[in-house]
Amino acid sequence: MDLIVRRGNLPDGRQAIDIGIKDGRIAAVEPALKATAAREIDATGCLVSPPFVDAHFHMDATLSVGYPRYNRSGTLLEGIKLWGEMKPHLTYEWFVDRALEYCDWAVARGLLAIRSHVDTCDPQLIGAQAMVEVRKKVQDYVDLQLVAFPQDGYLRSPVGVANLAKALDMGMEVVGGIPHFERTMAEGDESVRLLCELAAKRGLRVDLHCDETDDPHSRHIEKLAAETVRLGLQGRVTGSHLTSMHSIDNYYASKLIPLIAEAKIHVVANPTANLLLMGRHDTYPKRRGMTRVPELMAAGVNVSFGEDSAMDPWGPLNGGDMLDAAYMGAHIGQMAGHDQLTLCYNAVTENAARALGLQGYGLNVGCHGDLVVMQAGSVSEAIRLRPPRLFVVRRGKVIAESAKLESKLTLGGRPPSTDFSRKTKPPKALAGGG
Ligand code: FE2
Repeated sequence: MDLIVRRGNLPDGRQAIDIGIKDGRIAAVEPALKATAAREIDATGCLVSPPFVDAHFHMDATLSVGYPRYNRSGTLLEGIKLWGEMKPHLTYEWFVDRALEYCDWAVARGLLAIRSHVDTCDPQLIGAQAMVEVRKKVQDYVDLQLVAFPQDGYLRSPVGVANLAKALDMGMEVVGGIPHFERTMAEGDESVRLLCELAAKRGLRVDLHCDETDDPHSRHIEKLAAETVRLGLQGRVTGSHLTSMHSIDNYYASKLIPLIAEAKIHVVANPTANLLLMGRHDTYPKRRGMTRVPELMAAGVNVSFGEDSAMDPWGPLNGGDMLDAAYMGAHIGQMAGHDQLTLCYNAVTENAARALGLQGYGLNVGCHGDLVVMQAGSVSEAIRLRPPRLFVVRRGKVIAESAKLESKLTLGGRPPSTDFSRKTKPPKALAGGG
């Protein structure tokens, strides 16, 4: 073997498992693996996971917060306006530099696959060109998937239709859109039809910013599901955000969710962005705005969590840690049940990988030799602590390392250090609970 990670805990609950990697692929997953390797990592008590996957991000906007000014209201619409103010001043080099810096952060957090929407409404397509270049530059350590995204509207922007086609010609692999931002509901639906037909014609996937509004009458997801079935695109279409579903009537939800499931549409919720941007016209009570995650999951829909923003006009926070999204998703979706925490974890790992159509993802023999060793004993502990990623491995090679967290206590007779995992044992009668 080239690398063996010893005695790790896996996300499915198996403990003390060895993982051997050879020639960039996982060659063995078993307890007490009888083999040797050039390098061995002791992962005793640590969670060993497939890498994190961000199903929804904006790499072209990341790390631009504060230029030319801050978003004063913090709203989605001021964010779009602010991005428009910034556009004439954006340079190719700044696009590349910001994206590469963010990718460094992502790798350090074990985030090795990202689907990024890229604004194609810039007449010169500078951001699009830069992101294609960045995809090439990071390919050895991050799978960057690019969505041609007409931020100002596919039909509403004078360059929407032509530039989206140009961006696809440049090699972007996913068709994007923003139907709720078109001028009318009818034009929004028309954009959905045209974009799905374009994807079908070119053999591409679809990922639309869809119904990112608190308006319960925004129902473009219904059209997206219908077009997906009509064109035979099942499994290749993603509905991002779907926040209007937070506010729709429960009866309509009971009709809509099965339609989404039937069309095998992947759903991406963006918990941190939703909580910052939704419900902004409310006084009190204020809506959370996130789509109906537990209900969609219960209906068999593949739901992921995305980060959406990291230090850009729409959100000044975040920084490449998908456990933040899982943590926030668990809170907003009220998914703190033990099994539900696993669902939240899956939403930033295997579900997101499925939405992106990643090949060779996972911890099974034959998968890519990609994994993350975390200073946490389990999935729920990882979400709770968002701990150091001790080792990040890509194709069998360690590409990032972080030091173990240890806090030295200076008072009393307690143990000299702690990593914030629970060590205290229960009384005998409660042992083995859970
Ligand atoms: Fe987005």
